Amino acid sequence: MKGFVVTGGASGIGAVIARAADAAGFRVGILDRTSDASGNLVDELQHAKMLLADVCDEAAVAEALMRFGDVDVLVNNAGILRTGPLLEHSAENFRQVLDVNLTAVFIAAQAAARQMYDRHGGVIINIASINGIHPSPNSGAYTAAKAGVMALTQQMSLEWGQYGIRVNAVAPGFVDAGMSTPFYADTAVRQRRGRAVPLGRLGTASDIADAVMFLASDSAAYISGQTLTVDGGVINSVLQQLPRD
Ligand SMILES: NC(=O)c1ccc[n+]([C@@H]2O[C@H](COP(=O)([O-])OP(=O)(O)OC[C@H]3O[C@@H](n4cnc5c(N)ncnc54)[C@H](O)[C@@H]3O)[C@@H](O)[C@H]2O)c1
Repeated sequence: MKGFVVTGGASGIGAVIARAADAAGFRVGILDRTSDASGNLVDELQHAKMLLADVCDEAAVAEALMRFGDVDVLVNNAGILRTGPLLEHSAENFRQVLDVNLTAVFIAAQAAARQMYDRHGGVIINIASINGIHPSPNSGAYTAAKAGVMALTQQMSLEWGQYGIRVNAVAPGFVDAGMSTPFYADTAVRQRRGRAVPLGRLGTASDIADAVMFLASDSAAYISGQTLTVDGGVINSVLQQLPRD
């Protein structure tokens, strides 16, 4: 059975990716700093293992992946958001977001790629965000981190393609799940944002998992170094906000 590890898999989008990988017949590793939300998930899945680790901790991540065994697919999904105006943002908050959302992608990808190098093959998928393409106000370091994830995806694909490792990113748009759940609890916000999307609705965690499973599959065998935007068309709607008379 092929091995599939998803970081931040204990909740939100990561948990839905873990379910999709399980349904596709992978052995699934849920790497998260907490097992609180994932306890039931591990029981619910056919072949899942909890890998407790902080994604920023190099030694803990390397040990967790070694414990898991062969990693054929790694999804770097763990992420955090610290909001607030840049003028008042603390350097500590800024560093934390860069650490979890960007440096940790390097840490887990390097650990997995060292295994994949030995087996000459593997797939790495990094979860970015449309925030990395268009900044939104008061997002602190999130935009810089997610833009960095896309750049790092390109660099890893360039360096590791020769070892049979494909590296791509998925940039979700407005997703009604995970860290955005409290935001979309406000019906007015849900409706306003849903209407702003050309496809007329917010995204779901399954929309993101479907894109991840496509990139993980052999149907994407010749795709590397790309960011697949999964946003219902919203990043192309900038000029629609200022239409001609
Ligand atoms: N939900 C959205 O609207 C949205 C939109 C665009 C991109 N994203 C991205 O999707 C990914 C998943 O987000 P989500 O909405 O499911 O959020 P979430 O908060 O529900 O899940 C994030 C998971 O990451 C884990 N995590 C955080 N820090 C960690 C650490 N240091 N070590 C190990 N695990 C850690 C958390 O425990 C949690 O299980 C993130 O990268 C996020 O930036 C989300």
